[in-house]
Amino acid sequence: MFRLLTLGCLTLALTACDQGPSMQEKLATAQSLQPSDPELNEIYQRSCRNCHTLESTGAPLTGDVHAWSLRLEKGQDVLLENVVSGFAGMPPFGLCMDCNVTQFNGLIEFMAQIQQQ
Ligand code: HEC
Repeated sequence: MFRLLTLGCLTLALTACDQGPSMQEKLATAQSLQPSDPELNEIYQRSCRNCHTLESTGAPLTGDVHAWSLRLEKGQDVLLENVVSGFAGMPPFGLCMDCNVTQFNGLIEFMAQIQQQ
């Protein structure tokens, strides 16, 4: 369902509503952001960042508010569950085996830029 919505929007983005930031701008944003909390930053640098700042992985980019808003519609609980179990191209725990729920939630909020870091 959400995959369809995402595809629909991609199709639209290629035609009529191509008004958001370019992929290059999104990648620059993703690469410039880091969590202000040192503990989250340490985890982010060794796990999430390796995929969520690269276009080729297909992961929603850090700071790509539009991409994340589509994900957030599932609800934070579902997102959390998908991180823990793995989801499509994302391995279980987003490759952070020692992360706890609070840290995962903090990382999701950071990547979606829900809280200004
Ligand atoms: C090996 C690459 C990789 C790593 C490491 C990774 N992710 Fe992901 N993540 C992905 C990909 C790819 C997707 C998109 C999957 C899809 O929708 O096809 C994704 C999607 C997500 C989603 C959205 C899930 C959904 O239900 O739409 C969340 C939340 C997420 N990642 C959080 C994290 C967090 C937090 C970390 C670090 C602890 C992390 N990821 C590390 C590759 C990764």
